[in-house]
Amino acid sequence: MNPVSALITHSRAPFRIASTLVAMLGTVAALNIATVIPAQADASGPVVGGYLDWGVKASFRAYILGPVAHGSITPAVGATENGDGTYRFPATGGNHDHSGGNTDASLAGSLRFLGHGGALDVTISELRIEIRGNAGLMRLDVVAGNPRGGAPTTYDDIEFVTFDLSAVTPTSTATGWSWSGVPAVLTEAGSAALGGFYQPGTPMDPLAFTLEIGGLEPITTTTSLPSSSVPTTSAPSSAPTGVNPVIATPAFAG
Ligand code: HEM
Repeated sequence: MNPVSALITHSRAPFRIASTLVAMLGTVAALNIATVIPAQADASGPVVGGYLDWGVKASFRAYILGPVAHGSITPAVGATENGDGTYRFPATGGNHDHSGGNTDASLAGSLRFLGHGGALDVTISELRIEIRGNAGLMRLDVVAGNPRGGAPTTYDDIEFVTFDLSAVTPTSTATGWSWSGVPAVLTEAGSAALGGFYQPGTPMDPLAFTLEIGGLEPITTTTSLPSSSVPTTSAPSSAPTGVNPVIATPAFAG
């Protein structure tokens, strides 16, 4: 009988499997398995860290950086560029009430879009996320240069995009929550601030944000598998004693 058949058909099969596992584990002096447990299912509290990853709108970035506008996109005041061309805005404060479905987060960082030799000059800053149930809103400031050389126009704390969380479930992390693939559309105020080149309701880049909640320490448990004194591969003739209780099998009749 081949070894596999023997394990399956023999009345002591579970016992043999257990002893084989013990033999394998016996080669490791002591195995410690550290497990990071995600934040509690209802974790709420102040926002103490995290970030928003957002590209505003991929086609706008391509237009600015491409042969039409010959421009640039400059992150500043804490914003940084991600490898995929989107930008990261660090979270600086706010609050997350998980069971109430309310989240507010303010974000540092600005992005300046320049094109057409300076005729297009748009800076966004002071981003802020507000979630009420499944409805999300991002407010921000826009400063738009005047192509005719006059003073720039400031759109202060406008509702720039709305986003929809009805199909997005936040993922629990060790210290907070993470949302990704959140669909967003431009508002009327956002459309005006971008010179009316996009209609209200135009899809913008999806949002991805991770928020760290204060007071949540990462919980790490350590499972210790003791070094075994039963490192044999031969099947014992009777139920063992002193074997790791996790993988020891009960005694079998026959
Ligand atoms: C000298 C001034 C400007 C010129 C010559 C110009 C020219 C153009 C052209 C030719 C396109 C079409 C690009 C394409 O289809 O690939 C375009 C698109 C666009 N322009 Fe301008 N533009 C100017 C100023 C501005 C300003 C001040 C804004 C304000 C934000 C702006 C925002 C846009 C937007 C949002 C688009 C659509 C980009 C997309 O495809 O998603 N432009 N512009």
